[in-house]
Amino acid sequence: MSSLEATVSKMSTSPQPAKSLAIEKIKQILGEGRFIEHKDEMIPFLTEWRGFYTGDALLVVFPENVQMVSDVTKICAEAGISIVPQGGNTSMCGGAVPSSEGNAIVLSMSKMNKILSIDTTNYTMTVEAGCILQNIQEAAKAEDRYFPLSLAAEGSCMIGGNLATNAGGTNVLRYGNARELVLGLEVVLPDGRILDQLTGLRKDNTGYDLKQLFLGSEGTLGIITKAVLKLFPAPKSINAAYCAVPNISAALELLNCARVESGDSVETFELISRQVLDLVLKHIPGTRDPLTESYEYYVLLEIVSTKQDDNETRKNFENMLEKALESELILDAAIAQTEQQRQEFWALRENATESQKLEGTSIKHDISVPISSIPTFYETAWQAILGVEPKARLIAFGHAGDGNLHFNVAQPKNSPSKDFLAKWADINHAVHEVVKQFNGSISAEHGIGQLKKDELPNYKSSIAIDVMRVIKDALDPKGIMNPGKII
Ligand code: FAD
Ligand code: MLT
Ligand code: ZN
Repeated sequence: MSSLEATVSKMSTSPQPAKSLAIEKIKQILGEGRFIEHKDEMIPFLTEWRGFYTGDALLVVFPENVQMVSDVTKICAEAGISIVPQGGNTSMCGGAVPSSEGNAIVLSMSKMNKILSIDTTNYTMTVEAGCILQNIQEAAKAEDRYFPLSLAAEGSCMIGGNLATNAGGTNVLRYGNARELVLGLEVVLPDGRILDQLTGLRKDNTGYDLKQLFLGSEGTLGIITKAVLKLFPAPKSINAAYCAVPNISAALELLNCARVESGDSVETFELISRQVLDLVLKHIPGTRDPLTESYEYYVLLEIVSTKQDDNETRKNFENMLEKALESELILDAAIAQTEQQRQEFWALRENATESQKLEGTSIKHDISVPISSIPTFYETAWQAILGVEPKARLIAFGHAGDGNLHFNVAQPKNSPSKDFLAKWADINHAVHEVVKQFNGSISAEHGIGQLKKDELPNYKSSIAIDVMRVIKDALDPKGIMNPGKII
């Protein structure tokens, strides 16, 4: 490197004077213990959990209330400093980490983690955005209520992140995505103003429903600071079965039967392929196959009742499974007799992501197609992948009841990760072209972030992208909110 280059690169990592002043002001406003400035300590906040993305930042801040978020945002807007909102940093698409330019601050919501109130009559809960999802579920349970959003990252993801990504998870079939579980929001806008829409109303037609803009916006339009969440009656009788099915079409027929026979109270309908099961059994200690023989596909099915000891629902559930066995929609099934057994079934599903990570590199596709198109999509997309990498391993599983599959591809056995990674774009392209053929989505639940930003224009109409751009520019004219994500 020439001495001129060395000077330039050194300068680019130290902020300009106006930015330095702004950073000092932010530190002063927040006070000790509410920011990190040393690079080593910042690393966990700058690194995506799979290690695919690492960034740089001027500061990581931990505001404790909405006023602090607003003050920090105002200073950043004036000084042109970017803000990357961060929850649990479990994003699957590099959404919560800054770019390597080093001119952003990361705004962690982790100190805004209070459950503010629960109204059992209104069936609502008001929370700060940094509450861990599992803590919200437990707080609802303690009041004999239910917050149904559930995903494998629930022990570390935060509700602000869930809302900013419009998270899906395993209960969408019955309760909808995160978007459908929100009644009110408080948001700090990119200029620092506080938009207070924190109502617990189920009906409100006073103009545009502004909260919808921020749900699923991945931190590009503002910082979600509080939310009013919808609650439901607590489930009291949970019937869970782990079913082997002959093929995916049979799985979908089983879904239909289960919906009809249960009075449409199917809570979960998750597809697990044998390859996924094998990875989980290999990498996750204490897991075991509940069935004696090996099958190609499985479904984890749950039907829930809010009545205690609901024997009628149990009987219907067992009869439905019996009929499905007779008509060969199911080849074999295990019904959970205890909560412990139910948790064992769930371990096979919830560890799909972790076991893939332990197995090596995988290229993820988080797609959705109409439920009726899943079987043909599955075959067509698999053939398309084999056309790119004949030794690829398909790791397909997920929310079949929502038409959403995690159509992930693991690196071939005994071949270097770098050879597989070199095919990343081609494999993505192969799968996404098939998604397009079926009028599907290239991101059913994880979002666009950095990972799919370049792909988006190929799969979203230019008019839709224009409208998104107009909204972004109107709310964030300086482009400081989570730059480099989505558009
Ligand atoms: P982060 O990763 O911190 O942030 C995600 C995005 O939201 C970023 O763009 C960030 O800037 C923005 N953001 C965060 N907080 C705020 C805020 N307060 N205001 C504005 N913007 C904000 N996702 C699913 O949908 N369904 C699943 O089933 C699922 N399963 C997963 C399983 C595992 C094991 C893992 C690791 C991840 C899984 N995910 C799943 C992905 C991830 O957990 C979700 O996207 C989750 O909603 C992110 O929450 P978070 O708090 O970690 O957000
Ligand atoms: C899940 O549903 O477990 C995750 O969203 C899937 C993934 O790892 O792709
Ligand atoms: Zn998922």
